[in-house]
Amino acid sequence: MSPDGPARLRFVRLEECHLPEVMAIEREAYPEPWTENMFRQEVHSAASYFYVTFLEDVLVGYVGFWLAVDEAHITSVTVRDTYRRCGFGRTELKFILGVAARLGLSRATLEVRASNLRARDLYLSMGFRQISRRRGYYSRTNEDAIVMTKDLDTEAYSNEPAGPTERAPGSLSNP
Ligand SMILES: CC(C)(COP(=O)(O)OP(=O)(O)OC[C@H]1O[C@@H](n2cnc3c(N)ncnc32)[C@H](O)[C@@H]1OP(=O)(O)O)[C@@H](O)C(=O)NCCC(=O)NCCS
Repeated sequence: MSPDGPARLRFVRLEECHLPEVMAIEREAYPEPWTENMFRQEVHSAASYFYVTFLEDVLVGYVGFWLAVDEAHITSVTVRDTYRRCGFGRTELKFILGVAARLGLSRATLEVRASNLRARDLYLSMGFRQISRRRGYYSRTNEDAIVMTKDLDTEAYSNEPAGPTERAPGSLSNP
């Protein structure tokens, strides 16, 4: 992978046509994968900001959040296994935080499996902090969730370009 890989990522709003590839990634990435219908709801929900990530014409991951009053609840940060450790997960997270900040949201929250140390490392390095632990949150594996949050500094993102998107992410209307 060339070192400028992350800079070449393109973010596109999730559409139905992406679902087969998203499902293939989802099944290999998570012990309790979302169903296709759950992703379909992301396509149609006005509260969902969900993007797939392309490197050239390859769908390499996806990232999204739910708009909850003044908060972005991050629902997924995922990279296809063969494209990991190239900075793509970090780039996805930066992108989605930028979208949330430009919407004027005050913070981002997420849940992460206690055992998912690589994701926890990523979130910590991006300024998230742990605020609580939900016992047995992941029912199939009876694993705890770590709840993390980060205040969004809208100033830090306000001068940034919209980024390599095919649709402007700053609009409050969900296409
Ligand atoms: C978590 C995930 C999104 C990270 O994506 P990635 O593209 O590999 O991450 P990056 O290359 O951008 O790395 C960002 C940081 O994450 C951490 N990290 C990622 N993979 C790691 C690993 N295998 N071991 C240790 N730390 C790791 C490091 O802090 C890394 O920073 P560094 O490269 O400066 O050390 C990816 O592993 C993934 O999709 N996992 C399966 C789905 C998942 O668990 N998502 C999170 C749900 S809460």
